[in-house]
Amino acid sequence: MSASSLSQRLTTTVAKELLVGITGIILVLFIIGHLAGNLLIFVGPEAFNLYAEKLADLGPLLWVARIGLIAAAIAHISTAILLARLNRIARPDRYAHIAYMGKKSMATRTMIFSGIAILAFLFLHLYDFTFPEKAGPASVVAGENLGLYGLVWNTFSNPLHSLIYIIAVSAVGLHLSHAISSVVVTLGVLSDKATDKMDIIGKVIGLVIALGFAAIPIYVLVHTYIIGVEA
Ligand code: HEM
Repeated sequence: MSASSLSQRLTTTVAKELLVGITGIILVLFIIGHLAGNLLIFVGPEAFNLYAEKLADLGPLLWVARIGLIAAAIAHISTAILLARLNRIARPDRYAHIAYMGKKSMATRTMIFSGIAILAFLFLHLYDFTFPEKAGPASVVAGENLGLYGLVWNTFSNPLHSLIYIIAVSAVGLHLSHAISSVVVTLGVLSDKATDKMDIIGKVIGLVIALGFAAIPIYVLVHTYIIGVEA
């Protein structure tokens, strides 16, 4: 391979890594906002349903945000898959690959698996909460129609359903804990010491997000089966 085609290949690889990183940041911002909104479940049905209504009231603006999010997700997933394939092609000797598999490629592998798990979870998630009628029969708790709050409550009172969510949000946390240091390494703007610090910050953010989301199904299960108090 000539020097110019090698440098061209490296440039396009870095551009792809940057695209994965920037679209990843957009998705992380959505996840943080989504978690903040969902934590209103702990305040009560009125606060949570009001938040959901306010979002729905955004009308066309909400659709602009949704389309932006879908575009970011498609670009993120397709470019990440492309990069993973390019990495494989660049290292055709599988045994040598395993022998020299460093910290970064191990994290990359984990990210591909957790990424696939998150994508699968999203289909279930939209089926659970976005597509159903928000104040339909599935929203009734203890004889009272609690709207979207009731729908979430009833979904998580099923232990198997809750377990799937806890596993899925753990995959989200794991994915994020690697993603943040990965973006920093790609950008290469920080010193080694600062990069190590960002690695720790990334892990803490991943853990906080996973625990924050997991707290919701756990809260519903504890109330349904241990405390015995309905919504
Ligand atoms: C315990 C965890 C979670 C709960 C209780 C929850 C709750 C909800 C609810 C109630 C909705 C429907 C909102 C509405 O239609 O008004 C929703 C939509 C959505 N959630 Fe979650 N969520 C959780 C975790 C996640 C995670 C981890 C992700 C991303 C990886 C995610 C991504 C989405 C997306 C993309 C939508 C569709 C947004 C839209 O239609 O505009 N959620 N979630």
